[in-house]
Amino acid sequence: MSISKVLLQLDSDPQISTFDSVVAVDSGVDQLFRHGGVSAAQVRDLVYGLIFTRSPAELKSSAIFIGGSDVAQAETLLSAAVGSFFGPLRVSILFDPNGANTTAAAAVLAAGRHLQLAGSETLVLAGTGPVGQRAARLLAQQGAHVRVASRRLEKATKVCESLQAEVADGAFRPFAVSDDDSLKAALNGVAVVIAAGAANVRLAGQENLRQAADLQVLIDLNAAPPVGLEGVDPMDKAQDRDGRICYGAIGVGGTKMKIHKRALARLFEQNDLVLNAEEVYAIGRTLE
Ligand SMILES: NC(=O)c1ccc[n+]([C@@H]2O[C@H](COP(=O)([O-])OP(=O)(O)OC[C@H]3O[C@@H](n4cnc5c(N)ncnc54)[C@H](OP(=O)(O)O)[C@@H]3O)[C@@H](O)[C@H]2O)c1
Repeated sequence: MSISKVLLQLDSDPQISTFDSVVAVDSGVDQLFRHGGVSAAQVRDLVYGLIFTRSPAELKSSAIFIGGSDVAQAETLLSAAVGSFFGPLRVSILFDPNGANTTAAAAVLAAGRHLQLAGSETLVLAGTGPVGQRAARLLAQQGAHVRVASRRLEKATKVCESLQAEVADGAFRPFAVSDDDSLKAALNGVAVVIAAGAANVRLAGQENLRQAADLQVLIDLNAAPPVGLEGVDPMDKAQDRDGRICYGAIGVGGTKMKIHKRALARLFEQNDLVLNAEEVYAIGRTLE
């Protein structure tokens, strides 16, 4: 008799993400156990309910998804879940709060379709949020030189220091971008720009982008008007605009969805996976 695929959805938000639930169902999950407003202290008992109910051989049919809009809070849930496992009593986990891992992976994969990332000069505008930081990390792991921009140099520097601790041989440089001149300096010599700013925030105007002579690939992750990169349409998917390749948030979103679904399917193939940014990116590569 086949055993049903159950997914424990842990979300730190009081209102559990409908998006994540629908993707789980569409990815073949039979039973979804949804928990919202979850704190780290509650995770162990929820995980025990999962790992004590099936034999070790059956545990690959049970899995955990960790989401929520607060990525730092979600990280505490991930630590608590992993810390609850022992011996063979464990299940696979997909960590994708706020879509941060799947979105960053999709953006970096998109860039890598059009140029060799290793050795390329790249810029992550507003690279201090969860999506931007992950994109920066993944870019550096592909050998790109990564500029991380923030409105405040201090914030960009702090993010670069923490990225450097994660990717020892990564090449990170902080930039403060607060006006046309500082944006021009940040874009100088850059081949790829990923705009990872908050919704409804314009990060670069068309004229600044036009003047950046080395720019080849523009990726904007903000779909809500005004978009992050003026002139990039949210629907763009490898759209050629004046000789530059453009991706908008919805154009990147198609790849993100494919990665998200494949990552969920992977959870039910073995019971010892923890799918964080790097693992999610590796899954994305298999889909290219
Ligand atoms: N396409 C998809 O499938 C998908 C999926 C998930 C997320 N997204 C999008 O990806 C983007 C990044 O997500 P996130 O969660 O990492 O973003 P976030 O944390 O909300 O914001 C990222 C950065 O934007 C900057 N920022 C915030 N408000 C600003 C303002 N008023 N003016 C200028 N800069 C501002 C901040 O950088 P500084 O303070 O350092 O300047 C912040 O760290 C969002 O637009 C989100 O909607 C897309």
